Amino acid sequence: MAAHVQPLTKRRATKRSAWSALTSHYKTVSKLHLRQLFADDPKRGERMALEAVGLYLDYSKNRVTDETLKLLVQLAEELGLRERIDAMFSGQKINITEKRAVLHIALRAPKDASILVDGKNVVPEVHSVLDKMADFSNRVRSGAWKGHTGKQIRNVVNIGIGGSDLGPVMAYEALKHYSDRDMTFRFVSNVDGTDFAEAVQDLDPAETLFIISSKTFTTLETMTNAHTARSWSLAGLGNDETSVAKHFVAVSTNAAEVAKFGIDTANMFEFWDWVGGRYSMDSAIGLSTMVAIGPENFRSMLNGFHQMDEHFRTAPFEANLPVLMGLLAVWYNDFFGAQTVAVLPYEQYLKRFPAYLQQLTMESNGKHVTLGGKEVSRDTGPIYWGEPGTNGQHSFYQLIHQGTRLIPCDFIAFVKPLNPLGRHHDLLLANVFAQTEALAFGKTPEQVKAEGTPDWLVPHRVFEGDRPTNTILAEQLTPESLGKLVALYEHSVFTQGVLWDIDSFDQWGVELGKVLAQRIVPEIEDNAEPLLKHDSSTNSLIRRYRKLKQAQ
Ligand code: F6P
Repeated sequence: MAAHVQPLTKRRATKRSAWSALTSHYKTVSKLHLRQLFADDPKRGERMALEAVGLYLDYSKNRVTDETLKLLVQLAEELGLRERIDAMFSGQKINITEKRAVLHIALRAPKDASILVDGKNVVPEVHSVLDKMADFSNRVRSGAWKGHTGKQIRNVVNIGIGGSDLGPVMAYEALKHYSDRDMTFRFVSNVDGTDFAEAVQDLDPAETLFIISSKTFTTLETMTNAHTARSWSLAGLGNDETSVAKHFVAVSTNAAEVAKFGIDTANMFEFWDWVGGRYSMDSAIGLSTMVAIGPENFRSMLNGFHQMDEHFRTAPFEANLPVLMGLLAVWYNDFFGAQTVAVLPYEQYLKRFPAYLQQLTMESNGKHVTLGGKEVSRDTGPIYWGEPGTNGQHSFYQLIHQGTRLIPCDFIAFVKPLNPLGRHHDLLLANVFAQTEALAFGKTPEQVKAEGTPDWLVPHRVFEGDRPTNTILAEQLTPESLGKLVALYEHSVFTQGVLWDIDSFDQWGVELGKVLAQRIVPEIEDNAEPLLKHDSSTNSLIRRYRKLKQAQ
């Protein structure tokens, strides 16, 4: 066991006392309605808000009292959150199942910082890769980097999946306003051929650059798409193998596989095993983002990340944005039995943010055993989901307002619009505030009756309220504020994982399906009828597919 991890016996003992205080406290708090909490404390909305590094979090519309927050902070202290934060920031191997340090915070550390992994300062390498990325991005953006035929690169296609796709595509969409509009950016992830076919159908190979993004450079989907891209590119460039050097670059930790694929490692942008895939959008995996928005904006995004890192590392827990958000997520997950968290950005540019968060949160905290390998005693990682507002209001919000499930929601909004158009932004923000008000306070039967509603209709029109929300308000969506927002969720996920005593940085749960798929591929592709040894359902699905495929 790594030196930093507290002995299991100590963890268990402290765990019992802190959790049990909250269990009895929950019995009181769960009976208090937000209406009452606000009536009892007219300044609650001002008091239960926190501003740090330019993000304002209103957490007053949560089903908590001061005592709840005190106990949650106590829980975090007893479970060693402070020590675990220090362990992460100092490069200890807190990803114990993979024996790796977890250092996405080093990706945005300033040049003069020193963060040691196995005795070596990793910060200079980080900055040297950033400089290499900047040089490359500037050459592509300016047209100095030419394609094989001498034409300027106008299209960039990132091929990757999971963290090698979701971060880049989310960041590109989020920061489109800041991107070079003369260039086209596409993202191919799915092994479904349609993804590739649609992404390139209107592109000229002579003007198209592929960024093959894969930490391992062995991922089935990415390698399949990369080979297809190679054939597509070569076919459009007279099958001249020398064209690959001008139209393919790689982002990876695996130089040997990159070379094997045929990409010159001089055109490879490196990152390291201490960067988890879902924590990698600010590493070289963000190359497409940098080409789109330029090195200066990319560095400003890193600066935003770093500001939040420093806040997380140093602020007392009761005034620490990621810690508070993490504690609240645990409160609802483990005491109220909430199964999900809805993330609702009222910002069209953040349309892919919920999808990005799904990998960040669920691949990190979807775990059923503790660091010590014992079955967890509480539910872990809630399901994160969401859509940009106001669209969701006209579809699934019905269930959040009047359904039988408790769904804590994070509302995210910005004061200044990037596209000021008439009244649009005021209307958008009015909806954010209205939704959190409606969710918290609802509408009583008396209020419904007073509107002249017939008795039979009253129950249908009642809103119970007491639905918890966070509201995150920032000045404007910029590269810097995006960095802060992503780091906020990264560290909230970390906080939750510490409270559950799990490894938030491995992802063994994705392995079994990958292995089984590799076994099934030849069974599907072989001409001779294979001897199938799966269960009867899987066997008959394979047989049916083979039969119908052959009949075509
Ligand atoms: O599916 C699991 C996973 O390992 C993710 O964690 C990762 O982001 C993704 O696959 C892609 O991996 P790679 O970058 O190695 O291709």
